[in-house]
Amino acid sequence: MARQKLLFVFGTRPETIKLWPVIHQAESQSEDFEVRLCFTGQHRQMAEPLLKLFGLEPDYDLEVMEQNQGLSRLTAKVLLQLDEVLATEEPDWLIVQGDTTTALAGAWAGFYRRVPVAHVEAGLRTKNVSSPFPEEMNRQVVARLASLHLAPTSLARQQLLAEGISPAKICVTGNTVIDALLYVKEKFLPSLDLARTFSQIDLSKKMLLITGHRRESFGQPFRNICWAIRDLLDEYPDLQAVYPVHLNPNVQQPVREILAPKGQKSNMHLLAPLDYVEFVALLSHCYLVLTDSGGIQEEAPSLGKPVLVMRDNTERPEGIQAGTAKLVGTDRLSIRSAVSELLDDPVAYERMAQAVNPYGDGQAAPRIVEALRQHGNGHNGEYSGICTVVGSVNHNNGGGQYENVSGGLSLFDVYRDRGHTTNSAPGHPAGSLR
Ligand code: UD1
Ligand code: UDP
Repeated sequence: MARQKLLFVFGTRPETIKLWPVIHQAESQSEDFEVRLCFTGQHRQMAEPLLKLFGLEPDYDLEVMEQNQGLSRLTAKVLLQLDEVLATEEPDWLIVQGDTTTALAGAWAGFYRRVPVAHVEAGLRTKNVSSPFPEEMNRQVVARLASLHLAPTSLARQQLLAEGISPAKICVTGNTVIDALLYVKEKFLPSLDLARTFSQIDLSKKMLLITGHRRESFGQPFRNICWAIRDLLDEYPDLQAVYPVHLNPNVQQPVREILAPKGQKSNMHLLAPLDYVEFVALLSHCYLVLTDSGGIQEEAPSLGKPVLVMRDNTERPEGIQAGTAKLVGTDRLSIRSAVSELLDDPVAYERMAQAVNPYGDGQAAPRIVEALRQHGNGHNGEYSGICTVVGSVNHNNGGGQYENVSGGLSLFDVYRDRGHTTNSAPGHPAGSLR
């Protein structure tokens, strides 16, 4: 096989976390792959610490972030600049992840330059283009533009097939967030002193971990969420509510207005967005999670944490089917009563607090790189037309059902091979994560 040039395009916090394992996997096979990184900078403060943590050094930084900019402006800036990168690099594959503006514009730019696009985390659907907005449309459009669809679960595969995508172009791989989570959990958490890192929080008390940022919830729904949290803190004075607040001004404003007065009290902790390792540490420690995040819906089940999803629908129904996640919407009373039930009823809590792993087994990245290898160099017409990386995946027990990848390395192997045998990611010594 001719050496393939892979251009990874990413720009937000979740894309950085979820593409990191694939980038390292591809870099570890430098005889077969030449890796280029284009960071769009859609997120600045929330993604830059991750670049450092994971030892990623982008070849391009498009620096597109502006305070509270509109989606059209953001999309246009990424498209225009990326076109120049593509003209310079002429990659064999352009790789995007998920459903962000960066992913959409990345896929468009690749399509216009006739560069084959590989879509990581393909096939998630709510089938409601207003929710999540604009992510559902982004995913559907990326699916039209992509040549290779890396589906995290067999449900995602089925949804792609239902849209007429050829089975030969779909590989079921598991979700790369599980690769990242398992790695961080094993390699970083043992050396993190939680009590010292979060000295302001009483860790002996039950912790409600909160995140929220969805555009369709801006305005009154977000205010409802904040009021529900206030109600709960009044009702349960011992509860510790910990909320790393997304930097979007549409989130900051209601959170500061409604919850900051509570910040004066000892049980409401409003924090800046956390480094991934710190966030995973809190996720492992907390009692339950209240969130609208996609990635956290995938991570929490692996850690046996109940997730109450503050949305009316989800493109990740596997956690709900497995019993670890529940949709609670954005209504003040529903959120309050769902959290109360889990705080008051140990049986209801235990029912949800099962460690299941419907989203992957930590080996998604090797499968994705193997799929790229099997599908060959798109430009030279070597596309093999088959995908033999993974067979079927059982949602309820993803971990045991994925096929092994011959010759594939896990993240652990990659770091071991590079001599990183201690608790550290490349370029990032253990114990000094900042
Ligand atoms: C974006 C994605 C969403 C993803 C989320 C992950 C789109 C349309 N949305 O939403 O799918 O779930 O990221 O968090 O792609 N900001 C900062 N610093 C940062 C990041 C954001 O100040 O590091 C502020 C800026 O004012 C920025 C605003 O947040 O304009 C919104 O950022 P944007 O990337 O457009 O949308 P998100 O809500 O972060
Ligand atoms: N996360 C983090 N710090 C935080 C909050 C979340 O590192 O303060 C991680 C989280 O573990 C998950 C990812 O960010 O892997 C989810 O990102 P986000 O919720 O912003 O986006 P989504 O997944 O909804 O697209």
